[in-house]
Amino acid sequence: MSSSASAAAWWARSRVRILLPVIFLAPALYFLLSPPSSPPFFFTLPTSREESPSASGSRVIWAQRRVAEWRSCGWWRAAMPAPSRRNGYIRIDCYGGLNQLRRDLCDGIAVVRLLNATMVLPKFEVAAYWNESRGYVEVVKDMPEEIASKEPFKVDCSKRKGHFDYVETVLPALLEHQYISLTPAMSQRRDRNPSYAKASYCQGCYNALRLNKNVETKAIELLQAIPKPFLSLHLRFEPDMVAYSRCVYTGLSSKSLSAIEAARGEDRKALTGEAALLWRNRGKCPLTPSETAFILKALGIPTDTNIYLAAGDGLMELEGFTSIYKNIYTKSSLLTHDDFEKMHGNTKAALDYYVSVSSDAYVATFFGNMDKMVTAMRTMQGHQKTLVLSRRAYANYTAVGLSGEQLAMAMWDAHREEYIMGRGSALPEQCFCEFKL
Ligand SMILES: *[C@@H]1O[C@H](CO)[C@@H](O)[C@H](O)[C@H]1NC(C)=O
Ligand SMILES: *[C@@H]1O[C@H](CO)[C@@H](O)[C@H](O)[C@H]1NC(C)=O
Ligand SMILES: *[C@@H]1O[C@H](CO)[C@@H](O)[C@H](O)[C@H]1NC(C)=O
Repeated sequence: MSSSASAAAWWARSRVRILLPVIFLAPALYFLLSPPSSPPFFFTLPTSREESPSASGSRVIWAQRRVAEWRSCGWWRAAMPAPSRRNGYIRIDCYGGLNQLRRDLCDGIAVVRLLNATMVLPKFEVAAYWNESRGYVEVVKDMPEEIASKEPFKVDCSKRKGHFDYVETVLPALLEHQYISLTPAMSQRRDRNPSYAKASYCQGCYNALRLNKNVETKAIELLQAIPKPFLSLHLRFEPDMVAYSRCVYTGLSSKSLSAIEAARGEDRKALTGEAALLWRNRGKCPLTPSETAFILKALGIPTDTNIYLAAGDGLMELEGFTSIYKNIYTKSSLLTHDDFEKMHGNTKAALDYYVSVSSDAYVATFFGNMDKMVTAMRTMQGHQKTLVLSRRAYANYTAVGLSGEQLAMAMWDAHREEYIMGRGSALPEQCFCEFKL
């Protein structure tokens, strides 16, 4: 591109596809980066039998009329002022797992626009997996020779705490060196950016960013192989996750129990007594596969539904789910053995991401970084059948002794409330707007 072109025009004109290299963290690390949290919840014990869904007919969660819904806002798709001048080139350096890469890259796009700079193809660390991602970026092919040949001046934003002004602190270095690299600081408040920077954030993050072509091709292949319609289920019940949660479970197989013990570090001792109960009631304990099956049934999701299991290796107690929901599809069952064996764990996670964004319905048993990414992308694409199961509701109602049909009713009420209010998929970003229906 010509060196006089503006970053904004560049984004708007070419819808540059930034091909994200597939560098994921293991699910366990996702978990560590994002300690359990659950969306706010209101509790009402099921009271009126007349209002019970079985009496009123439709007992499928997706058939419930929504009151509010989050969608992509229109404002950021409108034309924004072009940069008044051009201040140089910025390369965004991203590290870590896919979600972290994505977040830094998205933030970086806003910084680039804020400083009226041109974005140079991002540098992603953990080069080990780059071989799967050659050609991951199609950006600034014709940077001026004298700039392209030198290493950028590194500006360290990562250690800065609290709000700081990029224009004040970073612009001088940019003007001086003309080519800088930076990793956006996590602590920054995106909402304080001027609207043209916010708009490039939304444009870049939700319109331009793609998985790299090889992975996307494989993902499309996988998607085509899954019988339609289907629900993608992000089930999390791995030993390290359960160990990290410090929760205790009854009724697990001895194999699972020893896997959990093996994953338990000194500082992750299981909670006992009252503390364990409180912890559980706060929604901190991962749902088991059989609890997940119970809730899905309570939500009226037929047991013959095609379900794609978006999950990593090492799920425990899966029989608790597959003995009830039998039409299960996984990567390993759909990809050729060769493909699957050769595939890096990170690529597998990328496939799950892609399939989950494209599925008819998405249910997550935990709201981790991957789920945040999937739910945001689904919302952006107008896929509204998205639900994060409430560990807290399940814990709360079992704690007061509900079981069987009563528990199912309570699960229905709690999740229906979340679903019709458009809650549960937490979209704090400026790119989404709430619509009252
Ligand atoms: C960047 O351009 C905008 C106009 O789009 C202008 O308002 C702003 O002051 C410029 N900022 C810098 C740092 O050059
Ligand atoms: C690419 O990465 C895979 C592991 O993901 C490795 O087995 C393979 O040898 C690498 N290929 C090249 C050409 O480096
Ligand atoms: C449900 O969870 C909330 C929040 O931790 C707690 O205050 C409440 O006592 C719990 N309810 C029951 C029935 O356990």
